Amino acid sequence: MAALRPILDRKRSGTQYTDRMHRILGVCHDCGLLWHNERVTYRNGVTEMKRVDDIEPEGSVLVTPQYEKYGLRVNPRLLPRLKSMGPQFAYALNVPHTAVEVDGNIVYVRIPRSRRDMDGPLTFEQAWEIDPNIPRGNLLLGVDEEQQQLVLELTAPTNVHAAVIGMTGSGKSTLMRTMILSALKIRGIRVALFDPSRGFEPLSGHPLIWRGGLFSSPDDCELGLDALASSIGRRGGELTFVFVDEVPDLIMQRPRIREHLARLAQAGRHAGIHLILGAQQLLASEIGSMTLRNIPVRLVGRVTDRTAAYNAAGRGDIGAENLRGSGDFIAVNGSTSRHFQAALVSEDTLREWATRYPPREPRVPVRADTGAHSNNSWQANFTSHGGGGGGGRPLDDIPQVVIEKIQTYMAEYGQEPSSNWIYQLTRKMLPTGGFNRDKARRALDMATGRAEITHAEGQPSHEANW
Ligand SMILES: Nc1ncnc2c1ncn2[C@@H]1O[C@H](COP(=O)(O)OP(=O)(O)OP(=O)(O)O)[C@@H](O)[C@H]1O
Ligand SMILES: [Mg+2]
Repeated sequence: MAALRPILDRKRSGTQYTDRMHRILGVCHDCGLLWHNERVTYRNGVTEMKRVDDIEPEGSVLVTPQYEKYGLRVNPRLLPRLKSMGPQFAYALNVPHTAVEVDGNIVYVRIPRSRRDMDGPLTFEQAWEIDPNIPRGNLLLGVDEEQQQLVLELTAPTNVHAAVIGMTGSGKSTLMRTMILSALKIRGIRVALFDPSRGFEPLSGHPLIWRGGLFSSPDDCELGLDALASSIGRRGGELTFVFVDEVPDLIMQRPRIREHLARLAQAGRHAGIHLILGAQQLLASEIGSMTLRNIPVRLVGRVTDRTAAYNAAGRGDIGAENLRGSGDFIAVNGSTSRHFQAALVSEDTLREWATRYPPREPRVPVRADTGAHSNNSWQANFTSHGGGGGGGRPLDDIPQVVIEKIQTYMAEYGQEPSSNWIYQLTRKMLPTGGFNRDKARRALDMATGRAEITHAEGQPSHEANW
């Protein structure tokens, strides 16, 4: 019969833990660190040798989903020595790795638990139930090492934006889903979702989701992020949490996304917009050093090596290369850092939400700005497709099938379709993506016979009509 151990039982005693504590103290003893003799002189002149303990066990063992932590009260004189003794403890305990960490006046020897000993994953529900009254502006992360609920107050002036960084399997998308679900449950904000890997999809049908759905194609993501960035400075900005997963991938496919993210990172908070970016690594060379500086909160999961850990956290001493993956994270902001286990939204819960709020396609914004500038950028954009699927036709060519669809629409509804409708139609139909307004207008002109079907390239556009 398997005993059900509550995951949030924070303190454990028991022979295994006692034995390990003894071994740790044994190592200290072997190194001559446990105590020293001090000569004390009393008032009456009598002197005596007295034993002074330098290292004592402190409290009981802390057990988190992935670690055991053994606390020691230590004479500060011994700290530098003790901090270098991780390998010796690991050897004595027969574990692959230990870390020696100083927290206030207590030193912890942290030991990874063997997979066999581990309880199931920490679920969203378990972490949520610790305290369901999370105030608006916060996001649930998981539990810290004291098994306390850990939330991120993103609206606090020192936080503002966050990045979730770690190698594949570190649990980034999982953590971001936990944050998203908590935002939806806390309510009172908008949540915008961008994710080419579609990992956020099950949560994307909720009424609080910006524009009704998940932005997943790079084209749509570019338009969506542009629209959000353009909304900065307008009045009446609602508190909006913008989740973008696979950021480097998106930037590679649509370089302008880098600019949109830069604007949002720099000035988004004035419009109540906060970013949560997911990436295997976030390099200044990819996302821009300014943007990186504007993202103070780093949620760092397992990374490949020390260099990656340094890049992710913005500092060198957090040891993210020794994290274990699967939701083992460190939250870093400036000089503070906090180890935590990310909560996981189970498949069942995801299915439940997707059934209750069926995911839909987002209402993709049409490019808001007009004029030569936007026209040029669209041209550049089309060029970057490399004419894929265009069969060597001029980029501006408007396929006959689009014209026919427009004509069918007009026959059915007795009016011309909107440029947005044409955008949506062509976005689905053409590998080169949706038509911008100018091109939609020309398609319309052709369908209505206002223009020749064999429209030449490089003609002045009909901007005056817009
Ligand atoms: N908090 C967690 N608790 C338990 N298991 C987890 C947790 N987070 C992730 N995992 C495990 O790790 C796997 C990978 O997680 P996830 O997809 O979130 O990683 P990722 O960092 O987004 O990876 P990629 O960079 O490939 O997208 C999950 O399928 C799950 O099995
Ligand atoms: Mg992922």
